[in-house]
Amino acid sequence: MENSYKIHLYVFLFAYCGSRLVTCVSSEEKVQYSTDNEIATKELFEAKIMEIEAKVVNLETKVAKQEYIIKALQNGCEVSRAGHVSVNKTDNKNKILGKNFIPRTCQEAYDQGMIMTSGLYIIDPDGQNVGGESEDPIEVYCDMGVGSAVKTLIGHDTEATGAVEICNDAGCFKKDIHYFASDKQIEALIELSNECHQYFKYECIEAPFEYQSEQVSWWDDRNENQQFFWSGKYTSPNAHTCECGIYGNCVGGGTKKCNCDSGLKDLQVDSGIISDKTKLPVKRLNFGHIIADGLYTLGKFECSGKVFISGMPRTCADLRGFGHALNGMYLVMGNDSIENIYCDFSKLQSDNDFQKQIGRVEVQSSPTFFYVQRSRKMDSGIITFQNAPVNIGNAMNLSTGKFTAPVFGTYFFSFSGIGSMDFTTKDAKLQVSLIKNSQNIGKGEAQLTQGLSTDTLTLQSTVDLQAGEQVWVNINIYGEIHLFDDVDQHYTHFTGWLLQEDIVETLNYAN
Ligand SMILES: *[C@@H]1O[C@H](CO)[C@@H](O)[C@H](O)[C@H]1NC(C)=O
Ligand SMILES: *[C@@H]1O[C@H](CO)[C@@H](O)[C@H](O)[C@H]1NC(C)=O
Ligand SMILES: *[C@@H]1O[C@H](CO)[C@@H](O)[C@H](O)[C@H]1NC(C)=O
Repeated sequence: MENSYKIHLYVFLFAYCGSRLVTCVSSEEKVQYSTDNEIATKELFEAKIMEIEAKVVNLETKVAKQEYIIKALQNGCEVSRAGHVSVNKTDNKNKILGKNFIPRTCQEAYDQGMIMTSGLYIIDPDGQNVGGESEDPIEVYCDMGVGSAVKTLIGHDTEATGAVEICNDAGCFKKDIHYFASDKQIEALIELSNECHQYFKYECIEAPFEYQSEQVSWWDDRNENQQFFWSGKYTSPNAHTCECGIYGNCVGGGTKKCNCDSGLKDLQVDSGIISDKTKLPVKRLNFGHIIADGLYTLGKFECSGKVFISGMPRTCADLRGFGHALNGMYLVMGNDSIENIYCDFSKLQSDNDFQKQIGRVEVQSSPTFFYVQRSRKMDSGIITFQNAPVNIGNAMNLSTGKFTAPVFGTYFFSFSGIGSMDFTTKDAKLQVSLIKNSQNIGKGEAQLTQGLSTDTLTLQSTVDLQAGEQVWVNINIYGEIHLFDDVDQHYTHFTGWLLQEDIVETLNYAN
């Protein structure tokens, strides 16, 4: 402020001398001087006005902070000497919401019918009692909006417009932003919200963001990284732009990305909405190369909506989005099976132990096992069965001999039987084929030479089937031979079961 005042004083003195000189020059020169005089006076007033505005906003900031503290004290919060408010949750939750449950966002409070009007409310983005590391609830402003998503607004100590001080180096004027919520609560709110943004405005006279291709002003994001975009979303490292840069209509045209970068000596304004929730909120403002004046305005940090999760939950983050807040083991959809995971909701999604994989879960939506037998001999065609000691799920049809997969999955089949020659004077051969939808999967064979009467044949296979696909065993004979069986012995066995259901496919198919 001091430097800025000196410069203004200098301008003032120059203007004053100029006006004194007018008395001793020609009328032509008079006009010239009076024009100069007017410009100088105009500049003087502009500078004065900005200076006064800056003083007013500094006072407003102080008043706003005092009001916030008074309100917090009235609500039973504790205020430290430095003016930091800590909410006493035992005292507050009942007072403000009249319930034991503290919603995590304003959207959630609204969805649960807990709040109907805009105002200050207590919320707890990182959840209540979810573990030792969960933090105290925070006070926020809930904005019901009109026909739009409910907004959660977190205030900070720099909401009123502030003036930068004159200085020359890049980032020589710094302003730390202190939010009325911890980093962790803010990050938890971001994770729960569909979108987050923050308004920023810079009114400048010869105070650019970029000067001679050097970034002299920037903001520090929540991960302490420098950002040079003052509107919209992060695009690439060091990308510098304001709103006019995005729309290509900056003062000065051409390659300029901000009005304040125009190099013009009169008042310019850049304002926009920073909307990158992976970077926000703004933790520090840094300005440099300030020749004349700069006023910054940073809005509350605003988040709205809820993360949209469609379909089955796949991660702890999805479960958090659904509203789960208690640490524990949960079943989620894996890539090809149901998985068991442990979620620690007291952690942030970015923390390593937020989610732990336990293992896959064998889920069978329709249990399928069969074991069937024959009671008489046969010599060709699809093998059918007379007897079914086990046919859970009824996937095997005895009279057609066909197995129909009830769900997507991996199935196991085993067939065995004996080939028996009618006469022992000629060679003969009996073949069985496992068929999936008319396609041969594998064969088993009994080959008998003269003199032998019976031979065993077997066939096993593990097969992936889609729901509705069929499997059966077919028989072919070469010579005078047949598949032997009778009502007392049961030499023919066909058994099969569902090893593992592809639950993901089954559910996708059902949709
Ligand atoms: C919070 O408020 C309750 C009720 O007013 C009070 O008994 C308790 O001591 C307060 N807690 C703290 C940490 O001050
Ligand atoms: C599931 O698939 C995704 C994308 O293909 C992959 O990144 C991830 O590691 C897979 N998860 C498991 C448990 O295999
Ligand atoms: C077996 O299939 C036949 C022919 O498609 C059908 O008529 C019969 O009802 C089926 N049996 C059972 C138990 O599903």
